[in-house]
Amino acid sequence: MVRDVVRNGRLSEERDEEIARYLSSSWADRWIGEADLLVDMAHVLMLQEQGIIEASHARALLRELVRLYEEGLPEAVFDPDFEDIHAGIESYLTGMIGTEAGGRLHVGRSRNDEVATCLRLRLRDELLALADEVVGLREALISTASDHVTSVMPGFTHMQHAQPTTLAHHLLAYAAAFERDTARLFDAYGRVNRSPLGAAAFASTGYPISRESTAVRLGFSGLLVNSMDAVSARDFALETLAALAVLMTTASRLAEELVIWSSPLVGFVVLDDRYCSTSSIMPQKKNPDTLELLRARSASVSGELVAALGIVKGLPQAYNRDLQQLSPHLWRGVGETRSSVRILKGVVETARFMTERMAAEAGGGGSTATELADRLVREFGLPFRTAHHVVARAVREGRLDADGLEEAGRETGGLSLASRGLDQGWVEQALDPLESVLVRRNPGGPAPEAVEEQRDELASRAARDRDFLAHERRRVDRAIGGLIQAAREVTE
Ligand code: ARG
Repeated sequence: MVRDVVRNGRLSEERDEEIARYLSSSWADRWIGEADLLVDMAHVLMLQEQGIIEASHARALLRELVRLYEEGLPEAVFDPDFEDIHAGIESYLTGMIGTEAGGRLHVGRSRNDEVATCLRLRLRDELLALADEVVGLREALISTASDHVTSVMPGFTHMQHAQPTTLAHHLLAYAAAFERDTARLFDAYGRVNRSPLGAAAFASTGYPISRESTAVRLGFSGLLVNSMDAVSARDFALETLAALAVLMTTASRLAEELVIWSSPLVGFVVLDDRYCSTSSIMPQKKNPDTLELLRARSASVSGELVAALGIVKGLPQAYNRDLQQLSPHLWRGVGETRSSVRILKGVVETARFMTERMAAEAGGGGSTATELADRLVREFGLPFRTAHHVVARAVREGRLDADGLEEAGRETGGLSLASRGLDQGWVEQALDPLESVLVRRNPGGPAPEAVEEQRDELASRAARDRDFLAHERRRVDRAIGGLIQAAREVTE
């Protein structure tokens, strides 16, 4: 077994396994193992450049670090006997190359700035990958919407038929929401991608380190300048979790809607079998389990946020070990969100929308009554409230036809609509759900031309977001590639 080089100076080695496990973050540090190697490489390169350690020591350290990076970390470094991966890797390296070189890895830094840097590095990758998935989901919604610009369906408020709309309009509502969710991820990304390295325990260090150099090598866009803030700040994690929780709320609403639509009572969608389960007793069942689990996972992600907020809120400056307990919440939130977004994209892409069934319901429940009232206003000059009353009364009497409206008009305002030209043909046209959709051409409305405009704008912003992500990915990959190359060159 590799000996823990961190503990054994100050503390006696007697410690039972239960306490060691309770203390250790090794299990959760699998998320940051690779990042830790990169942080070590950047730190050692800088130490050598700054003349803080000798070239021979840097070479010995970098040779092992590059080897571990290429071969993968051995299980030994994740032993819960180590408090964390940082102690694990330093102890492992020291075991391999001896204290003379291994013992110089940690000069001018602390695990406090080290872990904060690792978290940010890994989270940066996760955010780029997740945002990419969200853009994919937006594209799936936009392309499905494109096929359904004239597919009329009922729109609902209070889960009651409200007014006719189109499937395209409905799907683009989600595309718009996911666009804002992406923007929140980008916002978080900008604040995640800053380097705390060099802050050491919290008061920086007296060695002539270069914080700039490690930040640039690791592809960060700048520093978290104040060294106390740098180690203690976890608002980047809270902000990310908040963005994830909101994103998952949008996803959960779409999932919920698809669950409702897939009920035989509604019959608006048939989900692909691969996303469904059956019953162990009821042979006929096809259940939308995947979406139900997504709905529940949205609650879990909100829970991760609440837990993380609770951990941070009572902490004085600077580092407190409580912060270790926050990281698993972050990783669980990131993991659940990423898989959910991926799954949801597949559900949307494979769903069969039952447009005939939607069209049959489009004018149901009196959902064209608003348009009828609007036409009484536009064509016969009635005040809107009077028109609203007349139609409401006809609905209440169950007589939404020319005679019923005539009677309602007389009883409501003592006015004859027939004398102004209202007849059965006029009423039928006013009650046609497609007509109701066609006139709603204001920006953002459901009329085909308005929807096409929304679709084009949403698509061009999705393309813009993809470009940003590709650009950032290239920038980060170039920095990390350069770092590994520089480390290799020292060892040659
Ligand atoms: N495992 C710790 C964490 O995740 C690393 C920092 C430990 N620092 C310390 N002073 N004990 O936060």
